[in-house]
Amino acid sequence: MTFARWGTSPCAARLPTPCTSQESIMPDHARHLDAHYDAPVELGEQSLTMRLRAAFRDAGRDPDHLALDEIAGIDQLHLGGRSASRSLAALGHLAPGARVLDVGCGTGGASRLMAAEFGCEVTGVDITAAFVEVAEWLSRATGLDDRTRFLCADAAQMPLPDGAFDGIWCQHVLMNMPDIAAVLAEWHRLLVPGGTLLLHEVVAGDSPEPLVLPVPWARSVETSHLRSRQSLEALLSQGGFAPVAVQDISESALAWRRKHSRREGEGEARGPALPGPALIFGDVFAEMGRNLRDNLAADRVRILEGVWRRA
Ligand SMILES: C[S@@+](CC[C@H](N)C(=O)[O-])C[C@H]1O[C@@H](n2cnc3c(N)ncnc32)[C@H](O)[C@@H]1O
Repeated sequence: MTFARWGTSPCAARLPTPCTSQESIMPDHARHLDAHYDAPVELGEQSLTMRLRAAFRDAGRDPDHLALDEIAGIDQLHLGGRSASRSLAALGHLAPGARVLDVGCGTGGASRLMAAEFGCEVTGVDITAAFVEVAEWLSRATGLDDRTRFLCADAAQMPLPDGAFDGIWCQHVLMNMPDIAAVLAEWHRLLVPGGTLLLHEVVAGDSPEPLVLPVPWARSVETSHLRSRQSLEALLSQGGFAPVAVQDISESALAWRRKHSRREGEGEARGPALPGPALIFGDVFAEMGRNLRDNLAADRVRILEGVWRRA
Protein backbone atom coordinates (compact mmCIF):
# COMPACT_ATOMS: atom_id res chain seq x y z
CA MET A 1 0.00 0.00 0.00
CA THR A 2 1.25 3.52 -0.74
CA PHE A 3 1.15 6.31 1.82
CA ALA A 4 1.20 9.43 -0.32
CA ARG A 5 0.21 9.31 -3.96
CA TRP A 6 -1.76 11.21 -6.53
CA GLY A 7 -5.25 10.09 -7.33
CA THR A 8 -5.93 8.46 -10.66
CA SER A 9 -8.96 10.51 -11.73
CA PRO A 10 -8.61 12.34 -15.08
CA CYS A 11 -7.84 15.73 -13.56
CA ALA A 12 -5.11 14.16 -11.42
CA ALA A 13 -3.24 13.62 -14.68
CA ARG A 14 -2.70 17.39 -14.80
CA LEU A 15 -0.96 17.35 -11.40
CA PRO A 16 2.79 16.92 -10.75
CA THR A 17 4.58 13.57 -10.59
CA PRO A 18 3.19 11.04 -8.07
CA CYS A 19 4.88 10.99 -4.69
CA THR A 20 5.02 7.48 -3.25
CA SER A 21 6.64 5.96 -0.22
CA GLN A 22 6.64 2.59 1.53
CA GLU A 23 4.23 1.67 4.32
CA SER A 24 7.27 1.05 6.55
CA ILE A 25 7.99 4.78 6.66
CA MET A 26 4.39 5.75 7.34
CA PRO A 27 4.31 8.18 10.30
CA ASP A 28 2.62 7.00 13.52
CA HIS A 29 -0.23 9.45 12.91
CA ALA A 30 -1.06 7.87 9.55
CA ARG A 31 -0.67 4.36 10.95
CA HIS A 32 -3.10 5.05 13.83
CA LEU A 33 -5.65 6.50 11.41
CA ASP A 34 -5.30 3.53 9.07
CA ALA A 35 -5.83 1.17 12.00
CA HIS A 36 -9.02 3.09 12.82
CA TYR A 37 -10.57 3.89 9.42
CA ASP A 38 -9.42 0.74 7.64
CA ALA A 39 -9.82 -1.63 10.61
CA PRO A 40 -11.77 -4.44 8.88
CA VAL A 41 -8.90 -4.83 6.37
CA GLU A 42 -6.46 -5.13 9.26
CA LEU A 43 -8.67 -7.99 10.49
CA GLY A 44 -8.16 -9.74 7.15
CA GLU A 45 -11.29 -8.66 5.28
CA GLN A 46 -11.44 -7.54 1.62
CA SER A 47 -10.46 -3.97 0.73
CA LEU A 48 -13.01 -1.27 1.53
CA THR A 49 -13.70 -0.69 -2.18
CA MET A 50 -14.37 -4.38 -2.76
CA ARG A 51 -16.67 -4.66 0.28
CA LEU A 52 -18.68 -1.61 -0.76
CA ARG A 53 -18.94 -2.67 -4.43
CA ALA A 54 -20.22 -6.09 -3.34
CA ALA A 55 -22.75 -4.47 -0.99
CA PHE A 56 -24.13 -2.28 -3.79
CA ARG A 57 -24.49 -5.35 -6.01
CA ASP A 58 -26.29 -7.18 -3.16
CA ALA A 59 -28.66 -4.20 -2.89
CA GLY A 60 -29.47 -4.55 -6.61
CA ARG A 61 -27.37 -1.56 -7.76
CA ASP A 62 -24.69 -1.30 -10.45
CA PRO A 63 -21.56 -0.12 -8.55
CA ASP A 64 -20.33 1.71 -11.66
CA HIS A 65 -23.49 3.79 -12.06
CA LEU A 66 -24.74 5.23 -8.81
CA ALA A 67 -26.89 8.20 -7.78
CA LEU A 68 -25.76 10.62 -5.04
CA ASP A 69 -28.81 9.61 -2.97
CA GLU A 70 -27.69 5.97 -3.08
CA ILE A 71 -24.22 6.65 -1.66
CA ALA A 72 -25.16 9.14 1.07
CA GLY A 73 -24.85 6.42 3.73
CA ILE A 74 -21.14 5.93 3.04
CA ASP A 75 -19.85 9.30 1.84
CA GLN A 76 -20.92 11.67 4.63
CA LEU A 77 -18.75 10.70 7.60
CA HIS A 78 -19.90 13.54 9.86
CA LEU A 79 -22.87 14.55 12.01
CA GLY A 80 -25.81 15.95 10.07
CA GLY A 81 -25.08 14.22 6.75
CA ARG A 82 -25.70 16.20 3.58
CA SER A 83 -27.84 18.85 5.35
CA ALA A 84 -24.85 19.82 7.49
CA SER A 85 -22.67 20.17 4.38
CA ARG A 86 -25.32 22.26 2.61
CA SER A 87 -25.61 24.50 5.66
CA LEU A 88 -21.83 25.08 5.75
CA ALA A 89 -21.64 25.74 2.00
CA ALA A 90 -24.44 28.31 2.31
CA LEU A 91 -22.78 29.97 5.32
CA GLY A 92 -19.57 30.34 3.27
CA HIS A 93 -21.40 31.59 0.14
CA LEU A 94 -19.66 29.05 -2.09
CA ALA A 95 -19.90 30.35 -5.64
CA PRO A 96 -19.92 28.44 -8.95
CA GLY A 97 -16.40 27.96 -10.30
CA ALA A 98 -14.78 28.37 -6.86
CA ARG A 99 -11.69 26.18 -6.44
CA VAL A 100 -12.12 24.38 -3.12
CA LEU A 101 -9.75 22.10 -1.21
CA ASP A 102 -11.60 19.49 0.91
CA VAL A 103 -9.09 18.60 3.64
CA GLY A 104 -9.61 15.15 5.19
CA CYS A 105 -12.21 14.44 2.48
CA GLY A 106 -12.82 10.83 3.56
CA THR A 107 -14.81 9.05 0.84
CA GLY A 108 -15.46 12.40 -0.88
CA GLY A 109 -19.14 13.15 -0.15
CA ALA A 110 -18.71 16.86 0.54
CA SER A 111 -16.43 17.24 -2.50
CA ARG A 112 -19.17 15.79 -4.72
CA LEU A 113 -21.89 17.85 -3.03
CA MET A 114 -19.92 21.09 -3.59
CA ALA A 115 -19.34 20.12 -7.23
CA ALA A 116 -22.89 18.95 -7.97
CA GLU A 117 -24.93 21.52 -6.03
CA PHE A 118 -22.65 24.57 -5.86
CA GLY A 119 -20.70 24.27 -9.13
CA CYS A 120 -17.29 24.20 -7.41
CA GLU A 121 -14.10 22.53 -8.68
CA VAL A 122 -12.94 20.42 -5.78
CA THR A 123 -9.69 18.75 -4.78
CA GLY A 124 -10.04 16.30 -1.91
CA VAL A 125 -7.03 15.30 0.20
CA ASP A 126 -6.98 12.45 2.70
CA ILE A 127 -4.27 10.51 4.52
CA THR A 128 -6.26 7.24 4.47
CA ALA A 129 -5.46 5.54 1.13
CA ALA A 130 -8.53 3.29 1.25
CA PHE A 131 -10.81 6.36 1.44
CA VAL A 132 -9.10 8.04 -1.52
CA GLU A 133 -9.62 4.91 -3.60
CA VAL A 134 -13.33 4.87 -2.70
CA ALA A 135 -13.66 8.64 -3.34
CA GLU A 136 -12.25 8.25 -6.86
CA TRP A 137 -14.53 5.31 -7.65
CA LEU A 138 -17.67 7.07 -6.33
CA SER A 139 -16.92 10.23 -8.32
CA ARG A 140 -16.56 8.14 -11.49
CA ALA A 141 -19.73 6.16 -10.68
CA THR A 142 -21.74 9.38 -10.17
CA GLY A 143 -20.27 11.16 -13.21
CA LEU A 144 -18.54 13.84 -11.13
CA ASP A 145 -14.92 12.91 -11.86
CA ASP A 146 -14.53 15.92 -14.16
CA ARG A 147 -15.17 18.30 -11.24
CA THR A 148 -13.59 16.42 -8.34
CA ARG A 149 -10.10 14.97 -7.98
CA PHE A 150 -8.49 13.22 -5.03
CA LEU A 151 -5.04 13.01 -3.55
CA CYS A 152 -3.66 10.82 -0.77
CA ALA A 153 -1.44 13.01 1.42
CA ASP A 154 -0.96 14.40 4.93
CA ALA A 155 -2.74 17.73 5.41
CA ALA A 156 0.41 19.02 7.13
CA GLN A 157 2.33 18.76 3.85
CA MET A 158 0.25 18.90 0.69
CA PRO A 159 2.08 18.85 -2.65
CA LEU A 160 -0.08 21.62 -4.13
CA PRO A 161 0.92 25.09 -5.42
CA ASP A 162 0.64 28.32 -3.36
CA GLY A 163 -2.61 30.27 -3.68
CA ALA A 164 -4.31 27.50 -5.66
CA PHE A 165 -7.65 27.66 -3.81
CA ASP A 166 -10.46 30.16 -3.19
CA GLY A 167 -11.81 28.05 -0.34
CA ILE A 168 -10.66 25.42 2.15
CA TRP A 169 -13.26 23.04 3.56
CA CYS A 170 -12.65 20.85 6.60
CA GLN A 171 -15.39 18.74 8.16
CA HIS A 172 -14.86 16.53 11.24
CA VAL A 173 -11.09 16.19 10.77
CA LEU A 174 -9.19 18.39 13.25
CA MET A 175 -10.07 16.07 16.18
CA ASN A 176 -7.97 13.43 14.36
CA MET A 177 -4.88 15.69 14.33
CA PRO A 178 -2.45 15.81 17.26
CA ASP A 179 -0.94 19.15 16.16
CA ILE A 180 -2.61 21.54 13.75
CA ALA A 181 -0.02 24.34 13.49
CA ALA A 182 1.55 22.89 10.33
CA VAL A 183 -1.90 22.24 8.84
CA LEU A 184 -2.98 25.86 9.42
CA ALA A 185 0.28 27.06 7.79
CA GLU A 186 -0.56 24.90 4.77
CA TRP A 187 -4.08 26.36 4.58
CA HIS A 188 -2.63 29.88 4.69
CA ARG A 189 -0.17 29.03 1.91
CA LEU A 190 -2.75 27.35 -0.33
CA LEU A 191 -5.56 29.95 0.00
CA VAL A 192 -5.66 33.13 -2.08
CA PRO A 193 -5.55 36.32 0.06
CA GLY A 194 -9.09 36.91 1.32
CA GLY A 195 -9.94 33.24 0.65
CA THR A 196 -12.54 31.45 2.76
CA LEU A 197 -12.01 28.75 5.36
CA LEU A 198 -15.10 26.64 6.13
CA LEU A 199 -15.06 24.42 9.22
CA HIS A 200 -17.56 21.93 10.67
CA GLU A 201 -15.71 20.41 13.61
CA VAL A 202 -15.98 18.46 16.83
CA VAL A 203 -14.50 20.32 19.82
CA ALA A 204 -14.23 19.52 23.53
CA GLY A 205 -17.20 20.46 25.73
CA ASP A 206 -17.09 21.81 29.29
CA SER A 207 -17.59 18.48 31.06
CA PRO A 208 -14.48 17.30 32.93
CA GLU A 209 -15.48 13.66 32.31
CA PRO A 210 -13.34 11.70 29.85
CA LEU A 211 -14.71 11.01 26.40
CA VAL A 212 -16.56 7.67 26.17
CA LEU A 213 -14.91 5.57 23.44
CA PRO A 214 -15.19 4.25 20.78
CA VAL A 215 -16.56 7.16 18.74
CA PRO A 216 -16.64 7.40 14.94
CA TRP A 217 -13.24 9.14 14.77
CA ALA A 218 -11.41 7.07 17.40
CA ARG A 219 -11.33 3.69 19.08
CA SER A 220 -8.60 4.81 21.48
CA VAL A 221 -6.90 7.97 22.70
CA GLU A 222 -4.24 7.67 19.95
CA THR A 223 -6.62 9.10 17.34
CA SER A 224 -8.69 11.53 19.42
CA HIS A 225 -7.25 15.04 19.83
CA LEU A 226 -10.11 17.25 20.94
CA ARG A 227 -9.41 20.91 21.67
CA SER A 228 -11.82 23.47 23.09
CA ARG A 229 -13.58 26.06 20.92
CA GLN A 230 -11.49 28.79 22.58
CA SER A 231 -8.24 27.00 21.87
CA LEU A 232 -9.23 26.32 18.24
CA GLU A 233 -10.26 29.96 17.73
CA ALA A 234 -6.95 31.16 19.22
CA LEU A 235 -4.95 28.86 16.94
CA LEU A 236 -6.90 30.08 13.90
CA SER A 237 -6.30 33.69 14.84
CA GLN A 238 -2.55 33.03 15.30
CA GLY A 239 -2.59 31.26 11.92
CA GLY A 240 -3.92 34.38 10.15
CA PHE A 241 -7.64 33.59 9.91
CA ALA A 242 -10.29 36.14 10.97
CA PRO A 243 -13.76 34.89 11.98
CA VAL A 244 -16.72 35.83 9.76
CA ALA A 245 -19.55 33.70 11.22
CA VAL A 246 -19.13 31.00 13.85
CA GLN A 247 -21.88 29.07 15.64
CA ASP A 248 -22.31 26.19 18.07
CA ILE A 249 -24.67 23.67 16.41
CA SER A 250 -24.45 20.96 19.09
CA GLU A 251 -28.22 20.86 19.66
CA SER A 252 -29.16 20.09 16.06
CA ALA A 253 -26.24 17.63 15.80
CA LEU A 254 -27.51 15.80 18.90
CA ALA A 255 -31.07 15.62 17.51
CA TRP A 256 -29.69 14.18 14.25
CA ARG A 257 -27.50 11.66 16.08
CA ARG A 258 -30.42 10.56 18.32
CA LYS A 259 -32.59 9.94 15.26
CA HIS A 260 -29.85 7.94 13.53
CA SER A 261 -29.03 5.85 16.62
CA ARG A 262 -32.72 4.90 16.81
CA ARG A 263 -32.68 3.90 13.12
CA GLU A 264 -29.45 1.92 13.52
CA GLY A 265 -31.11 0.03 16.38
CA GLU A 266 -33.99 -0.86 14.05
CA GLY A 267 -31.71 -1.78 11.10
CA GLU A 268 -32.38 -5.52 11.13
CA ALA A 269 -36.14 -5.09 11.23
CA ARG A 270 -36.15 -2.85 8.14
CA GLY A 271 -34.55 -5.49 5.90
CA PRO A 272 -31.74 -5.20 3.33
CA ALA A 273 -30.67 -1.62 2.70
CA LEU A 274 -28.10 0.42 0.82
CA PRO A 275 -24.55 0.33 2.26
CA GLY A 276 -24.08 2.35 5.45
CA PRO A 277 -21.21 3.32 7.75
CA ALA A 278 -21.11 -0.13 9.43
CA LEU A 279 -19.53 -1.43 6.21
CA ILE A 280 -16.66 1.01 6.74
CA PHE A 281 -16.22 0.81 10.52
CA GLY A 282 -17.56 -2.68 11.21
CA ASP A 283 -20.37 -3.74 13.57
CA VAL A 284 -18.94 -1.44 16.26
CA PHE A 285 -20.41 1.55 14.39
CA ALA A 286 -23.75 1.42 16.24
CA GLU A 287 -21.87 1.64 19.57
CA MET A 288 -19.74 4.51 18.21
CA GLY A 289 -22.93 6.37 17.27
CA ARG A 290 -24.52 5.84 20.71
CA ASN A 291 -21.33 6.98 22.45
CA LEU A 292 -21.18 10.11 20.31
CA ARG A 293 -24.83 10.82 21.17
CA ASP A 294 -24.10 10.41 24.88
CA ASN A 295 -20.87 12.45 24.72
CA LEU A 296 -22.84 15.29 23.06
CA ALA A 297 -25.69 15.07 25.56
CA ALA A 298 -23.24 15.21 28.51
CA ASP A 299 -21.29 18.18 27.02
CA ARG A 300 -18.12 16.11 26.66
CA VAL A 301 -18.04 17.27 23.00
CA ARG A 302 -19.63 20.10 21.02
CA ILE A 303 -20.07 20.80 17.33
CA LEU A 304 -18.91 24.01 15.71
CA GLU A 305 -19.72 25.38 12.27
CA GLY A 306 -18.02 28.50 10.97
CA VAL A 307 -16.40 30.58 8.29
CA TRP A 308 -13.09 32.43 8.55
CA ARG A 309 -11.28 34.70 6.11
CA ARG A 310 -7.55 34.47 5.30
CA ALA A 311 -6.09 37.80 6.29
C1 LIG B 1 -14.34 11.57 10.43
S1 LIG B 1 -13.54 11.48 8.88
C2 LIG B 1 -14.37 12.79 8.00
C3 LIG B 1 -14.29 12.62 6.51
C4 LIG B 1 -15.01 13.71 5.71
N1 LIG B 1 -14.51 15.02 6.00
C5 LIG B 1 -16.48 13.66 5.93
O1 LIG B 1 -16.99 14.51 6.68
O2 LIG B 1 -17.15 12.79 5.36
C6 LIG B 1 -11.94 12.21 9.21
C7 LIG B 1 -11.01 12.12 8.01
O3 LIG B 1 -9.85 12.91 8.23
C8 LIG B 1 -8.75 12.25 7.63
N2 LIG B 1 -7.51 12.78 8.21
C9 LIG B 1 -7.15 12.79 9.51
N3 LIG B 1 -5.92 13.33 9.67
C10 LIG B 1 -5.49 13.68 8.43
C11 LIG B 1 -4.31 14.28 7.93
N4 LIG B 1 -3.30 14.61 8.75
N5 LIG B 1 -4.21 14.52 6.63
C12 LIG B 1 -5.23 14.17 5.78
N6 LIG B 1 -6.37 13.58 6.19
C13 LIG B 1 -6.52 13.34 7.50
C14 LIG B 1 -9.03 10.79 7.97
O4 LIG B 1 -8.29 9.91 7.17
C15 LIG B 1 -10.51 10.71 7.72
O5 LIG B 1 -10.82 10.40 6.39
